Amino acid sequence: MTKVLVATVKPFAPAAVNSIKIIIEKAGYEFILLEKYDDQSELIRAVEDVDALIIRSDKVTPEVISAGKNLKIVVRAGAGYDNVNLEAASAKQVVVMNTPGQNSNAVAELALGMMVYYARNCFNGKPGTELKGKKLGIHAYGNVGKMVGNIAKGFGMEIYAFDPFIPREQIEKDGVIWTGSEEELYTTCQYVSLHIPANEHTIKSIDYHLLSKMPSGAILVNTARKEVIDEESLMKILNERDDFGYISDIAPDCADEIKEKYEGKYYFSPKKMGAQTAEANINAGIASANQIVNYLEKGIKTFMVNKF
Ligand code: 3PG
Repeated sequence: MTKVLVATVKPFAPAAVNSIKIIIEKAGYEFILLEKYDDQSELIRAVEDVDALIIRSDKVTPEVISAGKNLKIVVRAGAGYDNVNLEAASAKQVVVMNTPGQNSNAVAELALGMMVYYARNCFNGKPGTELKGKKLGIHAYGNVGKMVGNIAKGFGMEIYAFDPFIPREQIEKDGVIWTGSEEELYTTCQYVSLHIPANEHTIKSIDYHLLSKMPSGAILVNTARKEVIDEESLMKILNERDDFGYISDIAPDCADEIKEKYEGKYYFSPKKMGAQTAEANINAGIASANQIVNYLEKGIKTFMVNKF
């Protein structure tokens, strides 16, 4: 019998788990659930005889791939797949997919929510500022970036975007101001919201060169990945500028030092919360289950992110 494992350190909402189970069992497969596991060895053991795997930010290392003797497909229920070792998967002809767009609204809402929270001094009762009339730079105009722009328009923000992979006309048709370089975006916008993936081109790419260009009252919003920030640059800019704030859904490695030295200049959510809504879990979970069934039954490879 075909076996499908859902392995999530950070569990889906129960309704999402139930929806996945229904799709998997309707296809005649066995549904296996591993939630809140403490050690990677539990995933390595659980994957041993399964055909398909659904994960979130769980780490699919070469060890996991090689332990999965029958493994044919891994679906990352979400957008970023930097947690999956694509080389190891490709070498064993294991298809890796993501579910783009399924959790974007949740992440976009969180980005704006964190901006309001920070602008109002983390609701501490002191007078804060408003988002209306402020310039917001969207760094990467994919599914999440576009939704951030849409919601921010409702706040009366002026929206700019930089994305070398999206045609200028596509950005402009949304009423967003296109910028031709990262430098231009960071120079222009008081708020910059990051939506770039973490890969060999972007890791540590948000550096002093860019951050130092941001105007007075600069606020960097990160609902992407902590790895894209050059933390030495972040510390340097926080040290140099009292007016600089960093708000992130993923605490940086240097979080303790920031907390100790720069009170009121940061916000870090306790756990990555961007996609942590029932709706996002249900959307991404259902898409994952359907993608597995479609691949195993019909060989459909939509949203495959590796090559072999
Ligand atoms: C994503 O890449 O889809 C988001 O970062 C969500 O990650 P999560 O599923 O671990 O919450």
